[in-house]
Amino acid sequence: MTASIQNLIAGKVAIITGASSGLGESAARHLAARGARVVLAARRADRLHQLVAEIREAGGEAIAVATDVSRREDLERLAAAAVEAFGRIDVLVNNAGVMPLSPIDKLRVDEWDRTIDVNIKGVLYGIAAVLPQMKAQGSGHIVNIASVAGLKVFTPIGTVYSATKFAVRAISEGLRAEAGDGIRVTIVSPGAVESELQFGSSDPESAAGVKAFYDANQIPADSVARAIVYAVEQPANVDINEIVLRPVSQEF
Ligand SMILES: NC(=O)c1ccc[n+]([C@@H]2O[C@H](COP(=O)([O-])OP(=O)(O)OC[C@H]3O[C@@H](n4cnc5c(N)ncnc54)[C@H](OP(=O)(O)O)[C@@H]3O)[C@@H](O)[C@H]2O)c1
Repeated sequence: MTASIQNLIAGKVAIITGASSGLGESAARHLAARGARVVLAARRADRLHQLVAEIREAGGEAIAVATDVSRREDLERLAAAAVEAFGRIDVLVNNAGVMPLSPIDKLRVDEWDRTIDVNIKGVLYGIAAVLPQMKAQGSGHIVNIASVAGLKVFTPIGTVYSATKFAVRAISEGLRAEAGDGIRVTIVSPGAVESELQFGSSDPESAAGVKAFYDANQIPADSVARAIVYAVEQPANVDINEIVLRPVSQEF
C-alpha cells in the first residue's frame, strides 16, 4: 500500500492543548476519528471529560488532563500522563491561546501578561515537556497554532496578540532547524475562525470591532482541524512546515 492511501494517523498519540473548545476541540475530534489516541488538555476539565466520553462512545481512545499551560509543571504532568496512558508521544498540538484585544495606550498590562504567559510561554513549556520523549523515540511532531496576526501586525488593537504569534512562528522555525532528524514542526496560521476566542476582549470598542470582523468573515473550526490532520498524516520524512488559511472573504 502506498503511503498516500494508508492511514498514517491511526495509533499516534496526540496531545492537544486548548481542547475544551474551538480549534482544539475540533482537532481532537478529527484526529481521534482517524484513530489517533488523544490526550486532551485545558483548564475546564468538565468540558474535556465530556469530549472524552463522546470520543470513546464513537470507538476512539482519549484521556483528559486538566492543564493550565501557563504553569510549566502542568505541562510536565500532561506529558507524563500521556506516556503513562499510551507509552509515547507522537504529536503535540500547541493550540491553547487567548486574544484579549485593546489599543496599546489603554495599558491593559495584566492582559498583556496573560497573553504572553499563555500564547508564548505555554507553547515553550509544551515543547519543553515533550521534546525529551520525542528525542528518545527518535520521532515526533510539534504543531504550533500561530495566526495570520503572526504574519501581519494587527494594529490598532492586536499589537500584543500579534507579538505573541510572531513569537510562535519564530520559535517554530528555530525549533524546526534545531530539532534534527525525526522531529517535525508545523506552523498553522489561521484567519478568522468561529470559536470563543473572539469574545475575550474586555475593552468595549475593541470587542465591537472584533465582533463585526468575525461576523463578516469567520469560517468553522473544522477548517483548521483539517489542516492539522493534513500535516500529521504525512509520511515521517515529510514535514509540512507552514500552513496559512483564511476565509475567502478576509482581506487582513
Ligand atoms: N479563532 C480564530 O479566529 C483564530 C485565528 C488564528 C489563530 N487562532 C488560535 O487558535 C488557538 C485556539 O483558539 P480558538 O479560536 O479555538 O479559541 P477558544 O475557543 O477560545 O479556545 C481556546 C482554548 O485555549 C484554552 N486555554 C486558554 N487559556 C488556557 C490556559 N491558561 N491553559 C490551558 N488552556 C487554556 C481554552 O481552554 P480553557 O479555558 O478550558 O483552559 C480553550 O480550550 C489559539 O492559539 C488562537 O490564538 C484562532
